[in-house]
Amino acid sequence: MLDRHCLYFGIFQLIIWVGVANGEFYSSVDSMQDLAQVEEELLNATRSYLESQQKQLDFYRRYVEQIKREHEWATSQLKLDEYLGHPLHAFRLLKRLVRDWDALIFEPIVANDAREKFRAFVEVLSRDLGYPDQSELQGAIKGLARLQKVYNLPTSDLADGIINGFPYESDLQWRECYEIGVQLFDLKEYKKSLEWLQVALILLQSSSRTEKDANHYVADIREYASMANYELGNPKKARRLLNQVLDKQPKHSAQQTRKYLESREPGKNVRETNPSWFANYTRLCQGRRLPEERSGDPLKCYLDGKRHAYFILAPLQVEPVHLDPDINVYHGMLSSKHIQSIFEEADKKEMVRSAVAGDGGARTVKDLRVSQQTWLDYKSPVMKSVGRIIEFVSGFDMAGAEFMQVANYGVGGQYEPHPDYFEVNLPEEFIGDRISTSMFYLSDVEQGGYTVFTKLNVFLPPVKGALVMWHNLHRSLDVDARTLHAGCPVIVGSKRIGNIWMHSGYQEFRRPCGLTSDSYKSVGYRD
Ligand SMILES: *[C@@H]1O[C@H](CO)[C@@H](O)[C@H](O)[C@H]1NC(C)=O
Ligand SMILES: *[C@@H]1O[C@H](CO)[C@@H](O)[C@H](O)[C@H]1NC(C)=O
Repeated sequence: MLDRHCLYFGIFQLIIWVGVANGEFYSSVDSMQDLAQVEEELLNATRSYLESQQKQLDFYRRYVEQIKREHEWATSQLKLDEYLGHPLHAFRLLKRLVRDWDALIFEPIVANDAREKFRAFVEVLSRDLGYPDQSELQGAIKGLARLQKVYNLPTSDLADGIINGFPYESDLQWRECYEIGVQLFDLKEYKKSLEWLQVALILLQSSSRTEKDANHYVADIREYASMANYELGNPKKARRLLNQVLDKQPKHSAQQTRKYLESREPGKNVRETNPSWFANYTRLCQGRRLPEERSGDPLKCYLDGKRHAYFILAPLQVEPVHLDPDINVYHGMLSSKHIQSIFEEADKKEMVRSAVAGDGGARTVKDLRVSQQTWLDYKSPVMKSVGRIIEFVSGFDMAGAEFMQVANYGVGGQYEPHPDYFEVNLPEEFIGDRISTSMFYLSDVEQGGYTVFTKLNVFLPPVKGALVMWHNLHRSLDVDARTLHAGCPVIVGSKRIGNIWMHSGYQEFRRPCGLTSDSYKSVGYRD
């Protein structure tokens, strides 16, 4: 687990790492991977800009030295007027001033082709290639804060590069922690902001011998810490921090901060209110079951070769995880080869898309930066067999199936509890609501990314190749609100899933008996 990747935990590195970690060709949903390419282009362009500037500077320096020598020689003559009285000397001075300075120095320095080229490149980068902006950096930092919240990751551990007890190769520098603290302050996440600022201060103080201007930075950190404390309803602490700054540096901007803080009321130390599902959600995401008053017989895994002739030779490996509503995991449904073919399908789709977009199918960075989902029909060989699997396992008619949605979850992305059914505003292309969900795990996830059912005390770690299936509707076709589920944030790794939603049209005679256990409870007229 540890040697697979080294997690370089700078924020930008964090973003890029998400995409490249698995080195998979299926990059279309990994916008982060594009950023790594953007950065490479930026590196290349900057390097060649610096090289050409260096060459030019070297040239100027030599030229200036030469002029300086002549100038000094001339002015060191006993009689400057005598020197300049010489026609050739006069000519050379005038030539230097009229021609050389202008052509060699003024013009190139003022015009600076290399700089113009670089400027144009940066413009293209930000206009066409989707250069990330402040909001995306904030998004990454928000994601980090969310991970901390859902998984109780201590700030000091994260700064040390330790995630859930696993040490990764790299740790954060004080500047990065400071940046996170400042951004979290702007996001009004004062408590977390304060934690990161404290870590930044400790790191800075332990590296203050190598850090020039350390005192200045310490003051900046304290100033922010003071404001965060003020917002958190600790005006005394805020004042103390500002005084610490101003005692040493009376001219520091903390002076203005003091005035500003004095002009308004301190924040209220309000306790965060979380949505009602939050406690169940975090606990399950962490892989801990909820306390339950009574649990029935533990569910046992079994092999099922009878469901369909297809499974006689290779029986289904069924792991029932919940009865009523039924949730089953079927292991080993897709091989790595299958999964690779699915990604290739999705990739091809991307190329078609960018060709349709009218640039001859050229894959630019922008084309790669598409949404995090792709939809696949059931025409290719691999998707035909996916369709067969769904049909044989569920017993449903694929006529009611939506295309398979292939989705990618990035680090920190949170998928809050939601049901899969529509209940209202049903899409017109299909008959009926989403009767069932079939979800393939197309990757393992190094840490996090569980699927959790917050009302049912169920958590499922992603297992590559496995299929999870459940019914979203009662047999009556009423929605089953207990199927509320969520995708927990990915901590480390990249999560890829394939979803197939089945609609209730065409399934009148199909919903197989014995697969569900709500038949005896159902209020529906169909049973
Ligand atoms: C950047 O430069 C390296 C080496 O010069 C080259 O191999 C690479 O393809 C370049 N990358 C881009 C995105 O232009
Ligand atoms: C939390 O889970 C328990 C089952 O363990 C359930 O009874 C309860 O309703 C759940 N709470 C919410 C808000 O979903």
